[in-house]
This record gives sequence, C-alpha cells and structure tokens, in this order.
Amino acid sequence: MKSFGLFRGVFLLTVCIALVFAQGENPPKKKRRGCKCLKKYMTEVNAIVDQKLKKFEEKYFVSALPGMPTGSERLTSAADRRFIKLSADVKESKDVLSKLNTTIRTIKDQFLTQKHDVSALTSLLHKMDGVVNNLTEAVHRIEVMQPSQGELRMQPSPLTEISTRPPGYPRDCHEVYNWDGMKFKGDYYIMIKPDGLDKPFKAHCKVFNNSGWTVIQKRQDGSVDFFRKWKEYKEGFGNLEGEFWLGNDYIHALTTQDDTMVHMDMEDWTGKHLYAEYDHFSVEGENENYRLHVSGYHGNAGDSLTSYWENHDGMMFSTHDKDNDGRYYDNCAKAYHGAWWFNNCFDSHLNGKYYHKGFHSNYFQRDGIQWNSIHMYSSLKNVEMMVKPSDRPKPAAKITNDVV
Ligand SMILES: *[C@@H]1O[C@H](CO)[C@@H](O)[C@H](O)[C@H]1NC(C)=O
Ligand SMILES: *[C@@H]1O[C@H](CO)[C@@H](O)[C@H](O)[C@H]1NC(C)=O
Ligand SMILES: *[C@@H]1O[C@H](CO)[C@@H](O)[C@H](O)[C@H]1NC(C)=O
Repeated sequence: MKSFGLFRGVFLLTVCIALVFAQGENPPKKKRRGCKCLKKYMTEVNAIVDQKLKKFEEKYFVSALPGMPTGSERLTSAADRRFIKLSADVKESKDVLSKLNTTIRTIKDQFLTQKHDVSALTSLLHKMDGVVNNLTEAVHRIEVMQPSQGELRMQPSPLTEISTRPPGYPRDCHEVYNWDGMKFKGDYYIMIKPDGLDKPFKAHCKVFNNSGWTVIQKRQDGSVDFFRKWKEYKEGFGNLEGEFWLGNDYIHALTTQDDTMVHMDMEDWTGKHLYAEYDHFSVEGENENYRLHVSGYHGNAGDSLTSYWENHDGMMFSTHDKDNDGRYYDNCAKAYHGAWWFNNCFDSHLNGKYYHKGFHSNYFQRDGIQWNSIHMYSSLKNVEMMVKPSDRPKPAAKITNDVV
C-alpha cells in the first residue's frame, strides 16, 4: 500500500512535469488554459490510479480464491493473501518504476536537446530523481522482506494451479494432499479410486498432522446403528458427513495398494483426546474374510489391537450373521452388539453400541465403543479411524531375505 502511495506521487509528478514542459513549448496565450488543464489532468490520473488499485484488489483479494473453505480457515489464510498481494505489488511497482524511469530520462533528454532555460524544471527533475531513488529503495526493502523461494512454495498460493496432477481419479486422499488439493486443515469429500477397484467412490478426506488421510470409520453421536450384517459391513453404511463405516471392500483396496498406516482418534466423556497409530495396517479381501494385519503401535491411548492378551492381528472380521471369531462357544459380534476382528473376544471394539453417558448399563456386558487401554467399562464419545500410506514402509521382502 505504501509503495502505491509513493508511485502515485511519482506518477502525478511526472504528469506535472510533462505538462509544465509542454506549456513551455506552447505560445504564451495558452498558459491560462494550461493551468485548468493540469487540474483536470491530475483528476484523471488520480481516477486511473484508483481504478488500477481497485482492479488489483479484485484480482488478488477476492476473485482469485476459488473453492476456498469458509469461516476460520479463510481468516487463517489472510496472512498468506496479504503476502501474495504484497508480492504482486512488488512486481507491479517494479514495472511502473521502470516505465517512470524511462519517462524521466525522455523528458530530461528532450529538455537538454532543446536547451530550454527553465531553472524551475531542473530542480523539479532533481526532486523527481530523488523520488525514483527512494521508490527503488522501498521496493528493494519489500523484496528483502519476502520469504525465500522455497518458503514461498509452501504457502497456499491461489496463483499456482494444480498442474502436476496426473489424469484420472486419485488413489487416496493422501495423493490429493500431495498435489496440493487439500490446502487447509479440515474435512473434504473427494472421489477417489484405489488400485484394484473398477469404480471411484466418494471418500471423507481429512487434513491432519500435515498429512492427507482417508477416513474409514467415524462415531460421534449414535445417529447410526453399527449392529449390522456382513453385507452391510462389506459395502459400507452411514453418512460420510456423520457416522459411517466405509466398507470392507473399500478398506481392503485402500490398505493393500500401499504399505498403509492407521490412526485412531478417540475422545472419552471427560473430553480427553487420545490416539493410537499403527505403522502397518491392512485388511485382506472378502475371500479371506477381511483378515486384519496390524503392527507398529505408537500413541498415547495404549495398544488395544495387538496386545498380548487379546491380539487382533491376524483375526478375520465377524458380524452377527458371520462368525469368524476366536471364541468357540459364542458369537462375539452378537454378544457385544457390533462387528470387528474379534478374537476371544476383544481388547478393542470401535464398532460397539453408542452410549450417550459413557458408562454401560451392565458392567459385564461391555458392549460399548471400547478401547480397553483407555477404559475397560465405559464407552468412548468420539472415534475416527483413518488411513494413509505408511510413514515407515517396510523394506521390500527381497532385501530382508538378503540380510537374513
Ligand atoms: C533508470 O534508467 C537508467 C538509464 O536508463 C538506468 O541506469 C537505471 O538503472 C534505471 N533505474 C531504475 C531504478 O530502473
Ligand atoms: C528520499 O528519502 C530521504 C530520506 O529517506 C528524504 O530525506 C528525501 O526527502 C526523499 N526524497 C524525496 C524526493 O522524496
Ligand atoms: C504426527 O506425525 C508424526 C510423524 O510424522 C508422529 O510421530 C506423531 O505421533 C503424529 N501425531 C499424532 C497426534 O498423530
């Protein structure tokens, strides 16, 4: 803004000089009219500069941000937008500056060749040279203030198109994130097509912890019944924007195209947020009853998927109408009102019944949303399960063999 003020001044000054100069060439009788003309000219120039400024603001402040999230996200990016505008200002300032410079030189040359004896003009030109120098300095200072080119690329810039995007649907949300398609923290709904699927499907994508995650399960208010049949767990159910199970076929495709990790975000009824992450998480296909492979726990919720007493690693998926669990005398899905990779029966069961007050009606029943290393006898308030390519992919099998 400051530089604009500056070069608006320079601009006006140039016009003044040009007019004074022109008047010098004109017959004396036109002098009076020239004064009127100067005023009119200045008004016009002012209008032009204002218009230019307005165009600028429209270009860099308003219209150039398509598809931007609303609300607080808009506010957080205000700094970025200010920066983008500043960069544009610098470029524009430089262009104008260079034009002004040329104009001044031209006037000076004309003045010298015509050898007009106008001492006032000389001092004006001197002053103008000073303004140009000051403006140059100001522009330089703004440039120095800019982040380096590397940092610049990190900024979410509406001026950069997503140009590296390959054709076709993304394989997962992580890929969209990497193409710069999810620039802000929060939730997105995007069509994805993991390898091995014929058709794309709409996924709930989430930017969290500087990564793009594909959400596979969500519990938050008990609005969706999770006590469902095999076919429903296979195909998925619920509402992507609320509670849902993505579907075992989708989960299988997502977790087998890459070495995949899982993040379970959990909140108890005291408002405590806890999480469990497993570096490796994959679910086999339906012909293997969606058998689970999971390892590499870290987090602060405790390990309730691969614990010693009730290990879910290697277990098949069970629903009340398809019992694949490790308990010979009972059906875990039926007994605990859900569906999971039950062993005999569980250390975790995030598809259990939603209890609005946390505690189960029956201590021994324990059919709520369980993560036993958090609470043995109360149900969780919020749960979100999401996957992305592993941060610590396993080395290829061949290399392991060579070492062994
Ligand atoms: C202005 O023009 C002169 C001569 O053309 C050049 O030496 C000088 O670097 C220019 N200044 C700026 C700020 O562009
Ligand atoms: C240029 O800047 C200096 C100091 O920053 C100031 O004294 C001088 O008046 C300025 N010149 C013009 C023409 O604005
Ligand atoms: C965020 O990611 C880092 C590794 O990139 C991981 O170590 C950390 O546990 C993650 N934090 C959460 C809250 O998931």
